[in-house]
Amino acid sequence: MDPVQDQYEHFPYPTRDPRDEDRRLVLGSPSSRDEINHFLFGGARDWSKPFRALVAGGGTGDALIMLAQQLADFACPAEIIYLDLSKAAREIAEARAARRGLTSISFITGSLLDAADHGPFDYIDCCGVLHHLEDPVAGFKALRSTLAPGGGMGVMVYGELGRTGVYDTQEMLRSLKKEGDSAATRIDIARRLLSSLPESNRLKRNSFVKDHLSNEAGLFDLLLHARDCPYRVHEIYEALDQSGLGMVGFVAPANYDPDYFVTDAKLKARLSLLNEPEREAFAELHTGNIKKHMFYCAASDSVLRSRVAAFDPKMIPVLHNVQLEPILEMLDEGKPLTARREGLRAEFPLPPRAVEILRLCDGTRTFKDIRKALSPAPPAQEFLESAQQIYRAFNGLNLLLLRARA
Ligand SMILES: C[S@@+](CC[C@H](N)C(=O)[O-])C[C@H]1O[C@@H](n2cnc3c(N)ncnc32)[C@H](O)[C@@H]1O
Repeated sequence: MDPVQDQYEHFPYPTRDPRDEDRRLVLGSPSSRDEINHFLFGGARDWSKPFRALVAGGGTGDALIMLAQQLADFACPAEIIYLDLSKAAREIAEARAARRGLTSISFITGSLLDAADHGPFDYIDCCGVLHHLEDPVAGFKALRSTLAPGGGMGVMVYGELGRTGVYDTQEMLRSLKKEGDSAATRIDIARRLLSSLPESNRLKRNSFVKDHLSNEAGLFDLLLHARDCPYRVHEIYEALDQSGLGMVGFVAPANYDPDYFVTDAKLKARLSLLNEPEREAFAELHTGNIKKHMFYCAASDSVLRSRVAAFDPKMIPVLHNVQLEPILEMLDEGKPLTARREGLRAEFPLPPRAVEILRLCDGTRTFKDIRKALSPAPPAQEFLESAQQIYRAFNGLNLLLLRARA
């Protein structure tokens, strides 16, 4: 058996209890309905039309359940194929779907390298899987070959820089491994090694990596993985290029745009000479803390960057996976919008009426409607500049997306 398949038969990941479906829906990126719409369909997908999706390497079902539930909530005539090598993971994902009464999903045990047998797909989710393949480009290509015209993919691959220390530890554990070691022995050795690490060790210094502290499946997935090849930004572009795919956009674009973080005018001027992939690669090095790269891509011979919904007063701003009240309270107290991500702290300036504008973002009003609802309504140009500033800040953090009015 392939060592990766064997691992996920023993340690389905992430650990999930189907009973938890009664109390919460796990949300995330990629693959929320609003994110797919924003990145791949210019915010204008008509969800009353049929939608075929593949969740490739669906694991215990996080993206699968989120997407199936969100499409069901919109009564979308959806068909979702779940595909994974691991029977153990599939059983959990199936039980979660059953618990929610989701009927749009077909479950298949198999490899994403054979995805073409089940296509074509308007959308493919592949989260946390391709970096575990012996030949990730073969995986990208297999998925690319099964995209319907105009379709696209949401992908997550590990980021090398944010996982500093992980690979040193994996290497040490490989050198300590003995033929015939059971999983329990390997976990015991890993725990002993972790307790022996000095403060100077790179994993010890990287306090933002915590999966190994959660449970055995987390520890195994992070430190004892059978195969795990992380990516830098330029390597993602190379893999896409070799697979006939092109970048549509990274999720949380602020993480990939040095303009959000570099304030020095001379540096900014030089950065403006770089092309987009170069700027994104620079941003990754500058912050140094990206653990996961989440992005949307599509066939390179299709429309790419301009698929992403663009700011326009006629668009509806849609809050995304965010609790607004605590943010509004902070803003009300005169504090700036502050983002904290793995040691990075960044402030985003907002215009004077930001709180009023954000309170009016209800997922149905366009920016234009919001201006009319403000009392007193600001002059059109002033409002436009404020709305753009708010959008840039919140969208940069993936907290605000766009949807076109039906
Ligand atoms: C880290 S888990 C991620 C699961 C899920 N996508 C998520 O984000 O929660 C990786 C999953 O990919 C599956 N996998 C690995 N290689 C695969 C392949 N070639 N075809 C299908 N599934 C694969 C594993 O069985 C495992 O369930």
